Amino acid sequence: MYKRTHNCGEIRLSEIDESVILNGWVNKVRLHGQIVFIDLRDRYGKTQIVFDSDHYKGDFELIKKISMEDVLSICGIVRSRVKTAINPNLKTGKIEILVSDFVMLNEASPLPFMLNDRNNAEEDLRLKYRYLELRMKELQRNILIRHHTYQTTRSFLSQNHFIEVETPILMKSTPEGARDYLVPSRIHRGKFYALPQSPQIYKQILMISGYDRYFQIVKCFRDEDLRADRQPEFTQIDIEMSFVDEQDIFEYMESLTKYIFKEVAEIDLPKSFPKLTYQEAIENYGSDKPDIRYDLKLIDLKNFTDSSDFNSFSSVETVKGIIVKDGAKYSRKVIDQFTDLVKKHNAKGLAWMKLQTKGFEGGISKFFSEGLQKQIISELKMLNGDILFLIGDDLKIALNALGHLRKSIAEKEDLIDKTKYAPVWITEFPMFEFDSEQNRFTAMHHPFTAPREEDINLLDTDPSNCLSRGYDLTMNGYEIAGGSIRIHNPKVQEKVFSLLGLSKQDAIEKFGFLVEALSYGAPPHGGIAFGFDRLVMLLAGTENIRDVIAFPKTTSAASLMDESPSRVSDSQLEELGIRIHNLKK
Ligand code: AMO
Repeated sequence: MYKRTHNCGEIRLSEIDESVILNGWVNKVRLHGQIVFIDLRDRYGKTQIVFDSDHYKGDFELIKKISMEDVLSICGIVRSRVKTAINPNLKTGKIEILVSDFVMLNEASPLPFMLNDRNNAEEDLRLKYRYLELRMKELQRNILIRHHTYQTTRSFLSQNHFIEVETPILMKSTPEGARDYLVPSRIHRGKFYALPQSPQIYKQILMISGYDRYFQIVKCFRDEDLRADRQPEFTQIDIEMSFVDEQDIFEYMESLTKYIFKEVAEIDLPKSFPKLTYQEAIENYGSDKPDIRYDLKLIDLKNFTDSSDFNSFSSVETVKGIIVKDGAKYSRKVIDQFTDLVKKHNAKGLAWMKLQTKGFEGGISKFFSEGLQKQIISELKMLNGDILFLIGDDLKIALNALGHLRKSIAEKEDLIDKTKYAPVWITEFPMFEFDSEQNRFTAMHHPFTAPREEDINLLDTDPSNCLSRGYDLTMNGYEIAGGSIRIHNPKVQEKVFSLLGLSKQDAIEKFGFLVEALSYGAPPHGGIAFGFDRLVMLLAGTENIRDVIAFPKTTSAASLMDESPSRVSDSQLEELGIRIHNLKK
């Protein structure tokens, strides 16, 4: 191999007549009889190299065999391209290298798919050959954005006196929300470690140990149903601070987020981020991670339907709806598609009325008297050509289904300004959700989240109305971070455990070390964790989390490249004292 003097994105007209060496992959080959043009590529760019039989002294037949993705080392002289061959889209587009010698460093086998366009192959095939896909421009760009995001995060936090501490990957299994990934212990037969769902407990203990400001860019593991923005192992920017309240956390985290967006993607975020309470978010947008780049708010319609003759809605808990400007154009087919969507989200159906010159038409309009129609039109400021969609159902179902409908309409009507980034804090979450299957409360955020000071008494009298000091940071419809001010009083922590159905014995067994640590001088503290992959998704402009992770898992939590998970040998199982008794679920 000749050692490279330059990379493939570097050479310009200033190097004309210089003798240079390049190493890289063959990106494209063009045979022109006794002249062969090749684009040589590395992660810095592409350079055109030319083999000319008049100039090249070696065996020219070998040159003709060079094919895509072979790895070459070439030496040659830089020359300017003829005017007609200049490529203005390439940084090296004005020059080419006339090759005097080359070494074939490695011949590539025929490729399973072409590397110029990701749409050439199904995702499963690309994931199997991820090392090839990772050579492609789009992924190289994303991985570079990810790299910049790590560095920018570290630099901001370190400059602001946060210290990076690693916490264990093998830890105690603690009930925290999702299912744990378990690791059997060979030394302690029959016992298991769990992979952390997050370093939550460790970072709180670090505060108790006086570290004051902590951060970690850390892998977390959750065995849960996967979606486009979820992976079983994902990365968090995990942060904790002592002697702070919500305001301090908001200020620091806004500064961090603004710094990252500016440094990595030259995006200016708003000076301070708006806030919505959980209730406001759910009622207006049907989501606790609302995309506020477009309006399309949900409205209350129960008063109107109660005055109408439409009896199906008279006994439901709520009637909510959405007005779509110019939506009267929607065909039956489009309305059916929207209906299927809301049904997928458990609504019983989707009612509608179109506003035309003479009043409401179609759908359920015949149940509304002329007077009532006039009242609706004027109070809701509806215009000719608008459509009103209505869902009557349990409050939770109606809001959630309309939240999904809102998103789908915004996409269909192209209401989303893709150049906009709209962060919004969501605050005042309920402390608990009631799980009717388990017939007990579960923590809305996690069991260490503090209740609001003014709601502490509600823990005894009315836990379901107790609000927490938790917060999420959302952006463009994604939850990019979540956190809370923590409980630092062991008595309150014990009370919350008991409301979550953990007996004193259970709580001591599962979290005893934390409860005990809280009794040795715990400072008031709070923190947050950013979904690092989601942050990079936004910075890279992709909606698929797998586009920003070098080696992601599929939606069934498998790695197609290394074929994990996989069976292990009987002797490995024997050593661990494990017997598989039922392979079929
Ligand atoms: P939470 O569970 O809200 O909080 O997680 C924090 C952030 O991590 C991201 N996230 C995920 N990203 C990809 N795939 C997943 N499966 C996944 N699950 C979560 C989200 C989320 O906002 N310990 C607390 C934080 C704290 O209280 O300080 C925690 O983990 O962007």
